[in-house]
Amino acid sequence: MEIIHVSAECYPVAKAGGLGDVVGALPRYQNQLGHIAKVVMPMYNTKFLYNNQWELVHKGGANLGYWWFEYTVIKEITNVLGFDLYLIDIGGLLDREKVYGYDDDTERFTAFQIAVVDWIAKWNHEPDVIHVHDHHAALIPFMMQNCVGFRNLADIPSVITIHNAQYQGWLGWDKSHYIPEWDQWKWGQLEWNNMINPLASGIKCAWKVTTVSWSYMEELKYMSNGLEALFEYEKGKCSGILNGIDTVVWDPETDKYIDDHYKALDVKRGKTASKEKLCETFELDPEKPLFVFIGRLVGEKAADLLPQVIGDSFYHIGRKMNFLILGSGDPYVESQLEILKAYSAGDYNVFVGYNEALSHLMYAGADFILMPSRVEPCGLNQMYAMRYGTVPIVRKTGGLKDTVIDYGDPDGYGITHLYASVGDITQGIFRGLELYEDKKRLKDVRKTMMKLDFSWDNSAQQYINLYSTLH
Ligand code: ADP
Ligand code: GLC
Repeated sequence: MEIIHVSAECYPVAKAGGLGDVVGALPRYQNQLGHIAKVVMPMYNTKFLYNNQWELVHKGGANLGYWWFEYTVIKEITNVLGFDLYLIDIGGLLDREKVYGYDDDTERFTAFQIAVVDWIAKWNHEPDVIHVHDHHAALIPFMMQNCVGFRNLADIPSVITIHNAQYQGWLGWDKSHYIPEWDQWKWGQLEWNNMINPLASGIKCAWKVTTVSWSYMEELKYMSNGLEALFEYEKGKCSGILNGIDTVVWDPETDKYIDDHYKALDVKRGKTASKEKLCETFELDPEKPLFVFIGRLVGEKAADLLPQVIGDSFYHIGRKMNFLILGSGDPYVESQLEILKAYSAGDYNVFVGYNEALSHLMYAGADFILMPSRVEPCGLNQMYAMRYGTVPIVRKTGGLKDTVIDYGDPDGYGITHLYASVGDITQGIFRGLELYEDKKRLKDVRKTMMKLDFSWDNSAQQYINLYSTLH
């Protein structure tokens, strides 16, 4: 089968979060199953672009409303990623340093999608499935079915995977002319709540809709930022497929970002060595258990609660632990976390920013990872952490609920709590300390976690099975 993944992110080309990790791994695993999976994404101004070799594949042009733009498609030629990677270059629009966060993101990603469809419409063969990810690629199924110039694509099956339904890419009807000439009677397939809603359109037009865990699929029917009724209505074509993790990139035995490699048998030695490095860099006490948080500092991740959680833990439990935070996002949360340093030096530190290498060292060196998320479609951090023998303390929601069993329950290994509240999270930390004191139990929990299989093999096959139903 030939599968074309269209996404705004793909690790290691460009990554802002878990979407990048998924699109950087899933196609490789699909290829290992004997299929031909390819990735198409925007050409940003990234290191990967300059450090790899490219060939020109196509040059074309299209309109974004009244603006005629030219685009170029280049392909990476050494197969360094284990799948064919195509980048779409639209000079001045996509070739920026960051993936998202510009005022003209609507124009950037709409033009990107138009270029992708315009290019594929010119192929002399049809791929077996177009698999789009999140709202940045979600207008593609609509365009394939309803744009006059792309009618030859109307019979190609499309699948949309929702990694995060909070972000939907809304735009006003005044921008409807951005979409290349389309059948105006089909406006209902673009519309939700009086706006053009790309994610809603993807859900309506794609042949199948998936999301990245089973529990999140259920949650979307009553909590999806306004799309609840749509998920209920379309439930017949919706399913959950749990993300896997890339066990080549995330492996404590070979991880290129850490010096002290280890496996389950010598986990204590390996983790202690990485922890000592972290503690030295961030002026923490290596004798104390280390609790970390890695992620976007946004409401979805309940990052706003962290300053109070840390303050309350020190106040109520005592200075028996260290906290280290890596993340960026909401400037207010960033500043609160910075301010906290003044009161908690020696037991707490924060790195505000994005740092891939540090994240790996933290998965390796931490004893516990906090994930109190209000919303978590899948969550990869907890799976990476467990592979490195780090105990996840998670709120029971979405993919966290599907991947972490409380160590108090039969066959359990992690720590779970019900609410994203300061009290619940602090109690989770307290339980973590108890576990840390019980050396025998901690050893068993680490061993159990490190044996869990979260690899992509199974989920990659589930996607293939899903595509097969469309032919
Ligand atoms: P989301 O995609 O919602 O941000 P996930 O748990 O799926 O959450 O994936 C987050 C990914 O991004 C993980 O690979 C995590 O290690 C990484 N990550 C998040 N924030 C940072 C950061 N500040 N520095 C380095 N890596 C980060
Ligand atoms: C999103 C979700 C996260 C998920 C990731 C990859 O960013 O917030 O939970 O793991 O996508 O699917």
